[in-house]
Amino acid sequence: MEYGYPQGHVFYRKMAHKYPLITRGEGVYLYDEKGKRYLDGSGGALVVNIGHGQREISQAVIDQMNQVGYVHGTQFTTRSVEEYADALAEILPAGMDKIYFLSGGSEAVEGAIKLARQYCLESGQPQRWRVASRWHSYHGNTLGSLSVTGRIGSRKPFLPLLLNFPHFPPPYCYRCPYDLVYPECNLKCAKALENLIQVEGPDTISGVIMEPVIGATVGAVVPPDGYLSLIQEICQRYGTLYIDDEVMAGMGRTGRWFAVEHFDVQPDIMVAGKGMSGGYFPLSAVITREEIAERLREKSGGFTHGHTFSHHPVACAVGLTVIRYIQRNNLVEQCRKQGAYLLQKLEELKSFPFVGDVRGKGLMTAIEFVRDRKTKEPFPRSDKFAEKAIDLAFQNGLVLYPGTGFVDGVKGDMVMVGPPFIIEEKQIDELIEILRTTFSRMESMVQ
Ligand SMILES: Cc1ncc(COP(=O)(O)O)c(C=O)c1O
Repeated sequence: MEYGYPQGHVFYRKMAHKYPLITRGEGVYLYDEKGKRYLDGSGGALVVNIGHGQREISQAVIDQMNQVGYVHGTQFTTRSVEEYADALAEILPAGMDKIYFLSGGSEAVEGAIKLARQYCLESGQPQRWRVASRWHSYHGNTLGSLSVTGRIGSRKPFLPLLLNFPHFPPPYCYRCPYDLVYPECNLKCAKALENLIQVEGPDTISGVIMEPVIGATVGAVVPPDGYLSLIQEICQRYGTLYIDDEVMAGMGRTGRWFAVEHFDVQPDIMVAGKGMSGGYFPLSAVITREEIAERLREKSGGFTHGHTFSHHPVACAVGLTVIRYIQRNNLVEQCRKQGAYLLQKLEELKSFPFVGDVRGKGLMTAIEFVRDRKTKEPFPRSDKFAEKAIDLAFQNGLVLYPGTGFVDGVKGDMVMVGPPFIIEEKQIDELIEILRTTFSRMESMVQ
C-alpha cells in the first residue's frame, strides 16, 4: 500500500509526496515496513540527538504515566517538572534559570515575544512591543513567530495577518548582504541593527531575536567573531532585550550545551525546543533571568500566558532522561569531535562543481549548492536542485533536511546534515559515501 494524498484521511504535509511507513527506529537508523533502512542524517529536522529507539526514554514515559500523566500547570507541579528544571538550570548559561515549559519551538518563540512585551510594560515602557529579527531567519510558523521569521516564502501568503515587526540582514558572509569581506566590513550587518532601532524608534523595540548559528533557512551559518557581542552591546545601549533562539542550535548540537556559549554573550531570554526531548515528546521552553521573572511577580503576579499542555509531567520526564543520557555518554563532547570529522569529510565533497560552500559547528552542518562556484551564482529555482538532491539521497537511504530561497527570497539551495550525536565515525563515512553516490548522479543530471 502507498501512503500519500489523496489515499486515506491524513492531511499530509507534502501533498505530492509518497510516504514510506516507518515501523522501527534504532540508533541512527530508521526502517520502513518493507525493511528498507535509512540513515537519519538530519535527525528529522535536527531534533533526534540521542538516537532512535532508546528504551530508557520509553521506560521514563511509562514510569511517569504510571505515577501521573497530566496535571494542569496552574494547579499542581510534579517531581519530573521540578527535577528537569533543576537539571536544565545546571547546564544553562549562568543566571538563566527561570524556565517556563511549553510544547514546541513556535510556541516558545510566541512566549518569548510576550514575555519581552510584558516585561517592558511592567517596567514602565508601554510603547515597547515590537521585536526585531533578521531576514532569512526561521523562528516558527504561528502568527507571532512567523512575524519575526524572515523567510520570505513562508511569510508571503500570510502577510496580511502578520505583525509589523522590523527585519535586518543576516551575517551571511558567503554572500555578504553588503558585498563586503570580513573583517574589513567592520560588521556592518550587526550595525544594521542600530540603524533599524534608530529608524523604527529606539523606544518601540522590546526585543531582538536571533539564532546564534542560523539553521533551517540559510544552513548552519556561523556568525563572524565579534558579531554577537556587538549585537548584545547595541541591545544594551537601547534598552532592548536580547532573545536567543536555541531551538535548533541548542541542547548540545553545536558542541556546547547552548550555541550562544561559543560567543561569550549573555542573552536576556532564551528559547529551546527540538533536542530537549530528542524528538520523543513535544517539549520546548522559554528561559529567563530572575530579575525579569521577578518584575512580573512584583507587578502583575505572573506571566500572562499558558497552555493546556505547558509544564507537562511526561514531557519533562522525557527531557530529564535525555539530559542524563547526554551527560552520561559525554555526547556534547562527542558532538564537537564527530562534528569536526563530519565537516572535514564534507569539505572533500567540494570536488563536485556544484558544492559551493560547506559550513557549520558541531553536528549542525550544511552544504550550499551553486551553479557556478566562482561567481556563486545560484541555480534557477525551477531546477529544484535541493529538492532533487534530498529525493535522490532518500532513495539511496539517507535522510537530509533541505532549505531554499535564502539568496533573494526565491533562489538558493542547501541541505542540512545534522545526525544524532551518537553517530560513529564509520557511520559518518557511510553518510559521506551515500552523498558521493547521490552527487555523482546529480552531476550527470546537471551536465
Ligand atoms: C530556530 C528555530 N526556532 C523556532 C522553530 C520553530 O519550532 P517548531 O517547529 O517546533 O514550532 C524552529 C523550527 O525549525 C527553529 O529552527
